Amino acid sequence: MTLIPVPDTAIIVVAAGSGTRLDGGAPKAFVGIDAHSILRHALDGVFAAAPAQIVVVAPAGFEGDAETELREAAGDRSDLGRVVTGGDTRQQSVAAGLAALWGDVRTVLVHDAARALTPPEVIDAVRGAVDAETGILPTLPVVDTLKRVDGDAVVGPIDRSELAAAQTPQGFPRALLERAYERAFADGIEYTDDAALFAAAGHGVRHITGSARGFKITTPADLERARHLLAESAPSATELDAQRPVATRVGIGTDVHAFGGEGDLWLAGLEWQGEQPLSGHSDGDAVAHAIVDALLGAAGLGDIGEHFGTAHPEYAGAHAAVFLARTRELLADAGFEIGNVSAQFQGNRPRFSARRVEAERVLSAALGGAPVSITATTTDGLGFTGRGEGISVTAIALIHSNGRRAGKES
Ligand code: CTP
Ligand code: MG
Repeated sequence: MTLIPVPDTAIIVVAAGSGTRLDGGAPKAFVGIDAHSILRHALDGVFAAAPAQIVVVAPAGFEGDAETELREAAGDRSDLGRVVTGGDTRQQSVAAGLAALWGDVRTVLVHDAARALTPPEVIDAVRGAVDAETGILPTLPVVDTLKRVDGDAVVGPIDRSELAAAQTPQGFPRALLERAYERAFADGIEYTDDAALFAAAGHGVRHITGSARGFKITTPADLERARHLLAESAPSATELDAQRPVATRVGIGTDVHAFGGEGDLWLAGLEWQGEQPLSGHSDGDAVAHAIVDALLGAAGLGDIGEHFGTAHPEYAGAHAAVFLARTRELLADAGFEIGNVSAQFQGNRPRFSARRVEAERVLSAALGGAPVSITATTTDGLGFTGRGEGISVTAIALIHSNGRRAGKES
């Protein structure tokens, strides 16, 4: 059994507020951003940061819901997390979190669940900057022009270079934070954030750069902003597909051609002198065309009409080798290698078995050496093939992602 070291850092995630200004129909932490709640997003960020004890402070009566969110976000690290019940003020909620810390914890980060999209890098940076005496606060510069006002009178300007907007998580040496909290309660003073409470006890606080994503979801407009940000960063279906592990895929293709037209028959990449030709765009080689569709289908690249149809006059009269070589190129560009191809044609003529090996060799060479096997059958006189009106071919292709998926254009 491997012993996992106990983290020396704890993150208290305060989520016990009611969310009066958001008015989301539930305590704010349990309001959904997308399929997931504000709390779940906050915890995803926290668990993506370096391992720490995680204390979730939940509203009274919502401890079970918080447990569920915690378990889902924690994955196999649920040993790190626990839920405690919050108080009437944020300060009381943080105090409830402090009372639940493990003995080994030396550094405490206090984080608002309402800052649900805070990047894990900010959490790690705060943690890394805390030392034995100093608290750390992530901030952003103030961008608005600010004024001091008195009633409806503008009293004067404020130099914004002296100001910064405070975010969370705020990080502190545990022992000093605990003492500062005891003192705040003893003095009966409510502070707006932990940095203010810590500074009031005479300790130093430094700030580091926060993140625009660390904004606090307070109003319905903030919730909308969070929704937009998540929608923008969600991977597209194409990206998700490209991220899938190396995959094996199959495709199927069929083709039917009527006998007719001038010249000799072309079928399965071979010229059959004296046999009735098949009619169609290009040489009417139904075996090659079914194989092309099976390969394109397996790769999800459309079909033969799209790549070689009448809109592409350069393929009029072209033979199998040209089609197949181009198809192989299309697949390679999309990150696929051909495993093998099997095709069967149904028809009375030509008598195929004598030239099977020759046909398979030609088709395989056009596909860069991938094995191609061709079988042939008659249909006992039934249907259009049985009446000798034409032939029908079915092909199946197996392809592999070569691990260098280029990602399809969407
Ligand atoms: N918080 C808490 N316990 C409280 C009050 C607030 O744990 N008694 C938490 C909130 O859950 C939130 C963070 O402190 O994550 C910041 O508070 P705020 O954004 O003000 O949230 P609410 O108090 O829930 O919202 P409102 O003030 O609109 O009611
Ligand atoms: Mg509040």
